[in-house]
Amino acid sequence: MAQKTVRVCFVCLGNICRSPTAEGVMRRLVEDQGLSERFEIDSAGTAAHHAGERADPRARQAAQRRGIALDSRARPFAVEDFFTQHYVLAMDRENLENLEALAKGADFRGRLSLFRDFDPEAKAESEVPDPYYGGDAGFEEVLDLCEAACRGLIEQIRRDGMLE
Ligand code: 4NP
Repeated sequence: MAQKTVRVCFVCLGNICRSPTAEGVMRRLVEDQGLSERFEIDSAGTAAHHAGERADPRARQAAQRRGIALDSRARPFAVEDFFTQHYVLAMDRENLENLEALAKGADFRGRLSLFRDFDPEAKAESEVPDPYYGGDAGFEEVLDLCEAACRGLIEQIRRDGMLE
């Protein structure tokens, strides 16, 4: 039987800080587990102000220090994404609410979740805090939170039978 490709999309507000970081971390973990062929990993923003831009230089530098290149270009999340994605992961509750409103019209069959709900160590409804207006430590924290949540997400995808 042909193996399915699992399509995952991380979503924040601008698609220049948190979700490109989650995308890069996920790509790295999936590669480390020999699963790159099984995934398509993407990210998007609920707002379009930064469309076309590369990830924030602070996010790129922090990721680069861990050997992760962030190469994405920002794009707004579109209702059509609900027709192609299996897992849509919101970085915070506001992003989740915006996506839930959009999903209503799309008969989404995949899973729309708050990203950190996949981190077994995180309290329910934990968010990835927006680092945009803060210092470098915020970008390091985003990387740590993304790594923990991505590990849990991959485990959930296995439990869902998507990697058989
Ligand atoms: P992100 O961070 O949602 O993690 O990409 C932000 C990027 C830009 C802005 C806010 C948050 N902004 O207000 O322009």
